[in-house]
Amino acid sequence: MWGAATSAYQIEGAHDEDGRGESIWDRFSHTAGKIANGDTGDVACNHYHRYREDIGIMQKIGLGAYRFSVAWSRVLPEGRGQINQRGLDFYQRLVDGLLEAGIQPYATLYHWDLPQALQDAGGWPARDTALAFAEYAKIMAQAVGDRVASWATFNEPYVSAFAGYFQGRHAPGHQSLDEMLATSHHLLLAHGLALPALRANVQGEVGIVLNLQQHEPASESELDAEAAWLADGKHNRWYLDPLAGRGYPADAVADFGHPMDFVQAGDLEAIAAPLDYLGVNHYFRTIVHSDRPGNLPVSNIKREQTTDMGWEVYPPGLYDILTRVNRDYSFAKLYVTENGFSRTVAPDSAGLIVDNERIGYHRDYLRQAHRAIQDGVPLAGYFAWSLLDNFEWAHGFRQRFGLVHVDFETLERTPKESAWWYRDVIRSNGERLAD
Ligand code: FCB
Repeated sequence: MWGAATSAYQIEGAHDEDGRGESIWDRFSHTAGKIANGDTGDVACNHYHRYREDIGIMQKIGLGAYRFSVAWSRVLPEGRGQINQRGLDFYQRLVDGLLEAGIQPYATLYHWDLPQALQDAGGWPARDTALAFAEYAKIMAQAVGDRVASWATFNEPYVSAFAGYFQGRHAPGHQSLDEMLATSHHLLLAHGLALPALRANVQGEVGIVLNLQQHEPASESELDAEAAWLADGKHNRWYLDPLAGRGYPADAVADFGHPMDFVQAGDLEAIAAPLDYLGVNHYFRTIVHSDRPGNLPVSNIKREQTTDMGWEVYPPGLYDILTRVNRDYSFAKLYVTENGFSRTVAPDSAGLIVDNERIGYHRDYLRQAHRAIQDGVPLAGYFAWSLLDNFEWAHGFRQRFGLVHVDFETLERTPKESAWWYRDVIRSNGERLAD
């Protein structure tokens, strides 16, 4: 399956139209000093009004699938209770439009935009938010469960918990280890509680999307090896292990040194309900160095920084993480649900956007994905991040990951050369990658 991905807050705009409620990203982006250049997602790509044009572009690229997310506060402005029919109708139109165009809808229920009303009631550190998520999942499942090919409950719970509640770099901008840990559990619990409602109401497959990367020791030293494994525990295994029915990893629990009293009887069973697939978002590897034993400090050393995000380009990292996840967990099916390259390239004199570096990035990572398939990984699809240049969270509009250029003044869309290259890859079902 060849696709491309986006998320609601990053592209939709129409932040206060047709009854949409406020989300934590509206509140955060409207808070001075949080987003580069003072950018907000108020308008973003205005996909809410231009989705038909965007589906047309997807058709030209020949996408087999489109991964998008649903804005919870469009459907339930207060997070629970009263349904906003006009919000729900937008996703009905989007799903129907995709199907008419022969593109499979892949829906993500949560890509970071919690309704502000639920944040005001405690946010993800409050257990009740997980129950609210299960109600919302059921509403979406009943509305479009007959037509959506593939469901993801969450996108990157690690980032929601870490960047949102510990680093403070993302909404809601809190800085608390307590809140981060409770959040991570309640996100997983919400996933687990939503599964029965999804299973009962949808025809498509159901899974979750994690951001995963290998954590490699910076040297041969024991300390670095220990630190790398611990970092893996806090990042990868913290989510993979409970989903696979193994509970939280003991080494990471011990290192956090924090009571896990938010875990209640039955939670781990709910979280471990079988999945149809695991989605892997992958951008870079992490290299870990430590210079003292005990409560190990972790520093990320990037050998080369070659994207506008400062992220290392290291294509074998995709092979490494896919084969490792398959070896250690054997999920029935994997997807690469995000992988992409940020670089701003201006149009040339003929108006073409010749983004050869992005082409090289996707080509090299796709070749590694192919290698993983050859080595037995049940990889079923690849989704480029992103279809459109969009609102890149705290970086605002300055980071451009799109296969399609968006002029944020006029909102005009222009497919980049990478979009046409991807079209050829899709047409040849990957044969083109050999060139
Ligand atoms: C991922 C997010 C996605 C986008 C890319 C660059 O972590 O899921 O929304 O920000 O990174």
